[in-house]
Amino acid sequence: MVLLELPSAGKLIDHLIANRITELNKDPYSTQSDRPFFMADTGPVLKLYNRWQRALPNIAPFYAVKCNSDARFLRFLADLGLGFDCASQTEIELVLSLGVDPSRIIFAHPCKSISAIRVAAARGISLTTFDNMDELDKMKAHAPNMHLLLRIYAQDDTAAAQLGNKFGAPLASAEPLLRRAKELGLCVRGVSFHVGSGARNPAAFTTAVHQARHVFDLATHLGLPPMDILDVGGGFQETNFEEMAGPLARAIDGAFPDSSAVRVIAEPGRYFARTLYTMACKVISRRRQLQPLLDESQPYPSLTPDMLYLNDGVYGSFMLALLENEVFVPDPVPMRGEENGSLEQRATGLHPYSIWGPTCDGIDCVAKEVVMEGEVKVGDWLVFREMGAYSVVSATQFNGFSNDYEVIYASDYLASVGGLGMTAAADAPGKVWKYLEWFLPGSIRGLWKLKA
Ligand SMILES: Cc1ncc(COP(=O)(O)O)c(C=O)c1O
Repeated sequence: MVLLELPSAGKLIDHLIANRITELNKDPYSTQSDRPFFMADTGPVLKLYNRWQRALPNIAPFYAVKCNSDARFLRFLADLGLGFDCASQTEIELVLSLGVDPSRIIFAHPCKSISAIRVAAARGISLTTFDNMDELDKMKAHAPNMHLLLRIYAQDDTAAAQLGNKFGAPLASAEPLLRRAKELGLCVRGVSFHVGSGARNPAAFTTAVHQARHVFDLATHLGLPPMDILDVGGGFQETNFEEMAGPLARAIDGAFPDSSAVRVIAEPGRYFARTLYTMACKVISRRRQLQPLLDESQPYPSLTPDMLYLNDGVYGSFMLALLENEVFVPDPVPMRGEENGSLEQRATGLHPYSIWGPTCDGIDCVAKEVVMEGEVKVGDWLVFREMGAYSVVSATQFNGFSNDYEVIYASDYLASVGGLGMTAAADAPGKVWKYLEWFLPGSIRGLWKLKA
């Protein structure tokens, strides 16, 4: 009996991307062959879900749809039992269209339009946030039965994206806001905050939890019904998750020792979405620096890197290069002979490149300088990993470039190329979990893991 050698997750994605490029190259002058595409895999998301369950078992995640609203991904998260943070009418409609019960949705936006408030109420959404007097008046007039969380100011100055400059009531205004809510007969169930997206300082979470406790006590003091929901927002990342989760969990245990009296929820976006997508982009043009070499003793002698132009840029899925100064470092698609037109001889050694998007705008720069092993040529494809968060959702059509991306789910691809997973299962029953992780549709994987 031959045991199938199971590839690592990253290698398998590279392999599937190379396969897709081979297919595209069969029609090399088509528009499609010049379009970027994403390979999606829910395997890493499942692992993140398990990490969340281990580190924050008492905090129910409500995935922030704004981060990546891929319907199939949302369905996968819904199957895992997550709730959803929706921030617009469209997001609410999308999540409801997947069959998610309105009780699993929070309308987590403290400054909503009246039309959105009315639609949310009509659709049965029962929980939203506020941080100002006018929002209370709007809620009274248009959705008086919806329950409210007071969003308080919170800030991690080291976060990748700050939100405190726009949202969150200062602690000093909690009292007048709660008094007004009481006057209007509105039901304030608790407190929410968001320390900033891509948070790095756990102290921001602990400070916010203590301030939330203060607001809970204030509500009791003002004679409001006891608050029973704490929403700790988003800001989580897979890279430092446990470092943030530990202090957060301890702060909650300390400030809210009676865990049965308070339901704790969170609104993670980036944490769950980032590893979902790997992106493949094509080099559509290149400009080599033709000026004389500056210093031949250096590993790469020209100080001005050659320029690569891709079929996607900051007006597309790389907006975080502008918004958060994210540094994007690609890998070349592993060469597969003729299929990617790269048979010609290439210069070897280290090559520095700047990487640009396809638009005519000078700020459309994906990476100021990356050093690649070997020369990159027009027609090559580059792979960008961990591209699931705040990518597709913020892409524009500026300059006429499409923001309608092809997203291929790895599990579908495997199924379509001959049911290899089943072969592996038959041949190596004890060793197939890793392969099945790729082969089984996400939702089944989730249930499988939950059962185990
Ligand atoms: C209200 C709210 N909740 C949740 C999120 C998701 O944040 P993150 O992706 O950092 O988890 C955001 C992001 O802007 C937000 O504004």
